[in-house]
Amino acid sequence: MDYLTLSEITKRAKQNLSKNVWDYLVGGADTESSIKRNRYGVDSWVFLPRILNDVSTVTARTELLGVPLRLPVVLPPIGSIQVFESGGAASVAKAAKEFGVLQILSSVCTPDFETLAKEVPGPRIYQLYLLGDQAWMDDLIARCIEAGYTAFCLTADTQTYSRRERDIMKRYVPGSGRQVGVADFGYQATMTWKTVEHIKSKFDIPLVIKGVALAEDAERCVECGVDVVYVSNHGGRQLDHTRACIDVLPEVVAAVDGRVPVLVDGGFMRGADVVKGLCLGATAVGMGRFESLAMAAGGEPVVLRALEILEHEVLTTMALMGVSDVKDLHPGLLEKVTPVTPAHVLSAFPLLEEGY
Ligand SMILES: Cc1cc2nc3c(=O)[nH]c(=O)nc-3n(C[C@H](O)[C@H](O)[C@H](O)COP(=O)(O)O)c2cc1C
Repeated sequence: MDYLTLSEITKRAKQNLSKNVWDYLVGGADTESSIKRNRYGVDSWVFLPRILNDVSTVTARTELLGVPLRLPVVLPPIGSIQVFESGGAASVAKAAKEFGVLQILSSVCTPDFETLAKEVPGPRIYQLYLLGDQAWMDDLIARCIEAGYTAFCLTADTQTYSRRERDIMKRYVPGSGRQVGVADFGYQATMTWKTVEHIKSKFDIPLVIKGVALAEDAERCVECGVDVVYVSNHGGRQLDHTRACIDVLPEVVAAVDGRVPVLVDGGFMRGADVVKGLCLGATAVGMGRFESLAMAAGGEPVVLRALEILEHEVLTTMALMGVSDVKDLHPGLLEKVTPVTPAHVLSAFPLLEEGY
């Protein structure tokens, strides 16, 4: 199908997936309020457009860690992504490479990081869950550097695996090939600032800390030499009852004060959402369910198509705001309001509720 909207891609994703896999994709922890807050937060900003600016050319090109990005977007780590489309992380890698954005590869999906580096060479970040002791981690970081990864990412919001009731009530185990339970995450729970200091002192690879949820931790990351601060609540899949990530972003950006790039994800589903994140100071915006839905709708070609549609949305939004370059986006282009629609994981696609 020749997709023209992200709504169509989302609709097809749902048609393609079994209920178990669909719930794994859209679901979150406990009451799923963190998911709803992410969307509520994104919907709580409106634009203050400027008129009569020349926007005959608009660019959203930028760079992250020296890697040029056609759009200020990263495709976040998605565990078990192969359950959405059999090519798994390789399909995402090919689409990201062809389009020109960075993929962050999850350590709990296929293909593994070394195979993928050979199959689809190019800039990429590797995200690790600690499933072993320090020697195990050190070995993996060394191999990650050897395989040519751009940066190494530790996810810090997953001290243990959360309670995802959609999965639990159906006795469904996400299909990464390994059952992920509290015991498996024993090593994740041992991760501390010392782990960060250890990595920074021993290895020469940019370090991303994903899961930052307040200014205090962002400041500490920068003090420890972290190279990228990544604001995230895991798409509402870990701790329930968190703030919306877009609401955390301004205080983190202020704390980091331009010393390192800041990434954000959580509830960003469309071009206008991305522009809001950029206005509030993100260097790039992560879009996990966007990536997963496109994979479920048809793998690599649909991920590529989704990125093209997203780019069109971003550039259209910028032109209508009177901004011709992403570097000119700033918080003064936004104002906080009460959202017009109830927030939920797919509330970015209201036409689907009308049966389109
Ligand atoms: C199906 C699924 C699997 C995920 N697996 C991982 C993972 O393996 N590692 C990780 O750090 N985050 C993981 N996440 C979180 C994403 O990287 C990202 O933080 C989140 O999806 C952002 O929110 P969004 O889906 O609203 O864009 C996963 C998210 C989803 C939806």
